[in-house]
Amino acid sequence: MDINISDTQKLERLKTEGKNKSNPKDIFNEFLLKKKIFKDKEVLSSSFVPDTIQHRDEEIEFISNIFAPSLLLERVSNLLIYGFSGTGKSLVTRYVAKQLSSISMEKNVNVLPIYVNCRLENNNTEYRLISNLCSIFGVKVPTSGLSVNELYKKMTKAIDVENKSIILIIDEIEKLIQSAGDSVLYSLLRLNESMAHAKISIVGISNNTDLKSLLDQRVRSSLSPLELVFRPYNAVEIGNILKTRVHDSFYEGTVDESVIQKCAAMSAQEHGDIRKALNLLLVAGDIAQKSRKSRIEEEDLDKAVDVLEQNITEAVVKSMTKQSKLVLYSIISISKGKRMGRVYSGEVYDTYVKLADRYGMKRLTFRRVSDLIADMDYNSIIMSKIRSHGRYGRTRELNLAFAPTLSDKIENIIKNNLV
Ligand SMILES: Nc1ncnc2c1ncn2[C@@H]1O[C@H](COP(=O)(O)OP(=O)(O)OP(=O)(O)O)[C@@H](O)[C@H]1O
Ligand SMILES: [Mg+2]
Repeated sequence: MDINISDTQKLERLKTEGKNKSNPKDIFNEFLLKKKIFKDKEVLSSSFVPDTIQHRDEEIEFISNIFAPSLLLERVSNLLIYGFSGTGKSLVTRYVAKQLSSISMEKNVNVLPIYVNCRLENNNTEYRLISNLCSIFGVKVPTSGLSVNELYKKMTKAIDVENKSIILIIDEIEKLIQSAGDSVLYSLLRLNESMAHAKISIVGISNNTDLKSLLDQRVRSSLSPLELVFRPYNAVEIGNILKTRVHDSFYEGTVDESVIQKCAAMSAQEHGDIRKALNLLLVAGDIAQKSRKSRIEEEDLDKAVDVLEQNITEAVVKSMTKQSKLVLYSIISISKGKRMGRVYSGEVYDTYVKLADRYGMKRLTFRRVSDLIADMDYNSIIMSKIRSHGRYGRTRELNLAFAPTLSDKIENIIKNNLV
């Protein structure tokens, strides 16, 4: 049953008019009405495009000014956009591109903003990206069999028929560079030299602020991009953005103001990641709804933080190799016998060897086990600190980076995988 505003009003009426205590229907109705918290969950998903974009006026203006000359069919400057995760880079760029597309249709100008995201399968290699672009331009190409050069030829033939300005927005561009190298950018820009009518510009979006250093000198100079950095939102800005989303996704009065503020403060500490803040609200709403509450309180938010942390840790542990799992298992078992949970790196190897024998696995060298521990430190599964003991030398102290309540669960995941 879907609930709407009138249902909320019905609930109020039930309360004020006084329901008949022995009427099962009244009891059922109240039960159904009470536990509904979400008005529209979809509004909290990261693919949802909000009607208004708050606190990004300067960025919208900057990108619009760069795109504007395309309306005169001039080639626009290439642009690189950086910023931490969840700071609105994709949202803002897509919004400006959509507006550009709409005005170019109105004015009957041949401007084509094209958006591709390299996290997605069909854009993460040069062949896939170019064949995807071909299909966007209406050219049919096989999924394999042609050379990349042939794909480029087919694409240029299709687009270079009349004057047009193409703005190719490549989101999560670092993924493309990692898997296909940066020469694809060079090849795309070089098309401008062989085309008589069409012009292509590239807008790259990345959360790696060091992206330019990944680029070859040759690519950097043919790109010579303008650059725009999306600074992190502060707690007040996040609070405002969340309030608007909460208004559209939850019923009125179901989310405490303190919950929004706390969520904003937490997210501000993590470089202003709005996506994470929205996720927290979604999970907190689910938790409150499951416990049949009619509103989300701070304790639900705290639980949501644990749940999300758990999901990430579990996913990382599941993806580790069997040997790494065995090393982590050794650290967990040793830490269980310690009051503060502190484990010294020197202790791990002995336990590791015993466990390796028990599970019939090859024993790795002491050195290799130390490397695996360093990897886990890097992936925030454990935290390590070097302690100096004067002339007795130095030891590395290890602590599990996840909540103690999670260690039994992680231990079980590992054990199940090892047998
Ligand atoms: N100013 C804003 N107003 C409203 N919603 C926003 C704003 N900024 C970000 N959001 C929302 O936050 C979420 C994350 O934004 P977006 O996907 O644009 O981040 P991003 O910078 O591209 O992150 P990533 O680097 O991880 O791809 C989306 O759901 C988006 O709608
Ligand atoms: Mg993005």
